[in-house]
Amino acid sequence: MNLLAAVPGFTGNQTALSPVGPGAAHIEHTFSLIFWITSTVWLLVLTAVVIAVYRRRYTLEQMPPPERTTEASDRFAARAVGVSMGITVLLLFIMLISSFRTGHAIGTMNSEPQPLTIDVYGHQWWWEVRYPNPVPANIVETANEIHVPVGVPVHIHGTSRDVIHSFWAPNIQGKRDLMPGYDTDLMLQVDQPGYWRGQCAEFCGLQHAHMAFYIIAQPKDEFEHWLTAQAQSAPVPSDAQTQHGQQVFLTHGCVLCHTIGGTTAASRVGPDLTHLASRSTIAAGTLPNTTGNLAGWILNAQSIKPGARMPPNQLFGTDLQDLLAYLETLK
Ligand code: CUA
Repeated sequence: MNLLAAVPGFTGNQTALSPVGPGAAHIEHTFSLIFWITSTVWLLVLTAVVIAVYRRRYTLEQMPPPERTTEASDRFAARAVGVSMGITVLLLFIMLISSFRTGHAIGTMNSEPQPLTIDVYGHQWWWEVRYPNPVPANIVETANEIHVPVGVPVHIHGTSRDVIHSFWAPNIQGKRDLMPGYDTDLMLQVDQPGYWRGQCAEFCGLQHAHMAFYIIAQPKDEFEHWLTAQAQSAPVPSDAQTQHGQQVFLTHGCVLCHTIGGTTAASRVGPDLTHLASRSTIAAGTLPNTTGNLAGWILNAQSIKPGARMPPNQLFGTDLQDLLAYLETLK
């Protein structure tokens, strides 16, 4: 029974105590079991201490001489200690077995092949997300938002492009370190539609705290629709303003780091921006994806996320306005 779920702050998003998938549910079961066993033991021991302290209270003068032990009292004491030790060992075994079973269940889950694979690469400080496809034109690249179909097990293949990061969406699955040069596999299944926040869980530099992501669980047909749309190239700018905005993008610093499908921008240093406007946040969950935030980010990302690889950009007046207008067409 999860009474903890009744405590405010223990439920909702980004908490391992409120699982929405089988991986996190296994972990939550073990956590709850250990929590209730240890809490009960703690409470019993504390009660015994309180009783012992308050049962007989003497002033110094009234203090009787220490009681002599008898054979019977020795036997009783030995039995009490023996039984307590037995219970302790039994409880430790129960917790050990529960922990082992959870580890085994998650391990089995993670090694089973799944029809859908998503590649996740940790970067300082954002997440590159890739939906592989045998047809290169259908490969989908995005960042910081991982769309998955509800109720379907998804195979996550992860690694890091620089330092050690840790992929953790507490409601869905346990932590998994992403290490440079080492591939890791885990299974995610989300049984409840919604935006599930995740966070890098391994200190990876100055902006580690600003390395969030969202797992967006949606019904299967909605997911398929999203995936098909994401595989398209960016729309061709249709008016003078967005055409100029695209030129600004392709002739300034932007093009050195970012990709926009269907244009000559094809660098992979920063996030793929082909469908930037379809994402709900920018800078790895740091800011809502609004025109104002995007403008601030483009002009001086360092004031928002010092140390990020996005340099300041000297853009003025119509150049900035048109660039923003163009970026907002990248649905
Ligand atoms: Cu990436 Cu902490």
